[in-house]
Amino acid sequence: MINDLRDFIAACERHGLLHRIDARVDWYLELSHIATLNEDAGGPALLFEHVRDSDLPVLSSAFTTSQRMAVCLEEDPETTICELARKWKTRLADGAGIAPRVVKEAPVLRNAAVGAKVDLLKFPSPHFYPNDGGRYLGTAHYLVCMDPDSGWINLGTYRMQLQGRNAVTVMIARGKDAEIIYRKYQARGEKMPVAVVIGCDPLHFLVSSTHVGSGVSEYDIIGALRGRPVEVFESDLTGLKLPASAEVILEGHLDLDDLRQEGPLGEFTGYYSSAKGADGVGMEPTITIERVLHRDDPIFWVSTIGKPVNDCHMIQAINRSAMLWHELETRRIPGISGVYVLPESCGWFWAVVSIKQMYPGHSNQVGLTAIAHYGLKGVILVDDDIPADDLGRVWWALSVRFEPKRSIQVIDRGRASALDPSLDSSNRYIMSKVILDACIPFEWETKPREVTLDPAMLHRVAQRWSELGLPRTSRIDRLLDSDDACDARPERSRATRSTA
Ligand SMILES: Cc1cc2nc3c(=O)[nH]c(=O)nc-3n(C[C@H](O)[C@H](O)[C@H](O)COP(=O)(O)O)c2cc1C
Repeated sequence: MINDLRDFIAACERHGLLHRIDARVDWYLELSHIATLNEDAGGPALLFEHVRDSDLPVLSSAFTTSQRMAVCLEEDPETTICELARKWKTRLADGAGIAPRVVKEAPVLRNAAVGAKVDLLKFPSPHFYPNDGGRYLGTAHYLVCMDPDSGWINLGTYRMQLQGRNAVTVMIARGKDAEIIYRKYQARGEKMPVAVVIGCDPLHFLVSSTHVGSGVSEYDIIGALRGRPVEVFESDLTGLKLPASAEVILEGHLDLDDLRQEGPLGEFTGYYSSAKGADGVGMEPTITIERVLHRDDPIFWVSTIGKPVNDCHMIQAINRSAMLWHELETRRIPGISGVYVLPESCGWFWAVVSIKQMYPGHSNQVGLTAIAHYGLKGVILVDDDIPADDLGRVWWALSVRFEPKRSIQVIDRGRASALDPSLDSSNRYIMSKVILDACIPFEWETKPREVTLDPAMLHRVAQRWSELGLPRTSRIDRLLDSDDACDARPERSRATRSTA
């Protein structure tokens, strides 16, 4: 079972998916450059054990392959992103969230530094990219805050720049839950009590970067996904419920009157950007840290963000695929057989939805519902004979089932990401969107006749496969396993890039 970051690290090590680096490395560029080269090569998660100026080891690249995301979700490491997303949405659909359980004792309460003893410079916050505006303490973490009216507790991952011994700035884009909540404190003339959690059950990080819906607590969603409640303690400083097994928790108040220069940061789009300025620099609110809590021998955690594909994009690919799928099903639209937000599209901008069409206009209904999903720029619709994540076959559908005039639908205005460098810097909150419908029109009386192989001959050939001296494949195994001799389903397209 995975209940904290240490369980996850141990599980990755058991599967040969984590590498420890004993050599001393610098937090200035060196750590991020080692991590990026390793990520680009599809390498393991890294645990840097000796980083300049700090006693804390640093985990990076935790989710750069689907295998480690599967480990986090307590699934077989060979499970694909699409399959993990299916399991995620099924666990959500199976029942309401599971509320956290309040405990009195918490490993993270063992060590505390308060007031003048707070020193954030002790943490190995990396300076990731050459033009970054400084060191980033928060890239694989989350912010906890509470709605002052309803008591709803929100977890959200929003980048945090180090601003000295006891302060960080946080970049929360417009419309995010923490913004909706901090506006309420602002209206009351109060600072917002917050906590920053670094290092925890890694599922917390996956879910804190998911839009689960305003008014819904990510703690309940984590509980539903794990099938057991998150253990939390009640902070006597901020009144927040905080995860008992976190590695590090920073507590303080967010002050909207204390705005400081933030950024740039090499962002998940592959460009330097910020929510406030095209050059990647903006004025953002400051959190003054009043107390640091940590476990014995705490472990720090970072994500390289930057160009796709790294763990930021993989995380968003899985959580956005799952939530889009969940949303389509919650709207009671039938026939959704697969949803895949591509990691290569920054895990954000493009989705493929595979549909078993049942009535005229079905694919269009799916397209219009899906495209409303926050941040999506394009949705590609395919029939259910094409797996949403088989990009080779998606291209085939775009070639032979798609006719531009009939199949393209442009939506003039929709919610955009403030960090999207394809948008003019004066307005990055609104963009146009597109639906590419590569499904065969349901209403056509005469449909194109597809080339398929003869099922009986396939079965016969499969039985002779060893005699032919050809290597066994999963498709031959499938054909040999099927009694009815008619499994003519094609193999996955060879053009598909493996994100495992
Ligand atoms: C590694 C990582 C970094 C992120 N950084 C930011 C950020 O700086 N600002 C932001 O608004 N969203 C950021 N996001 C996206 C949010 O985490 C995501 O939209 C999430 O749904 C926000 O929580 P909320 O829905 O409770 O507002 C980041 C996501 C990831 C995976």
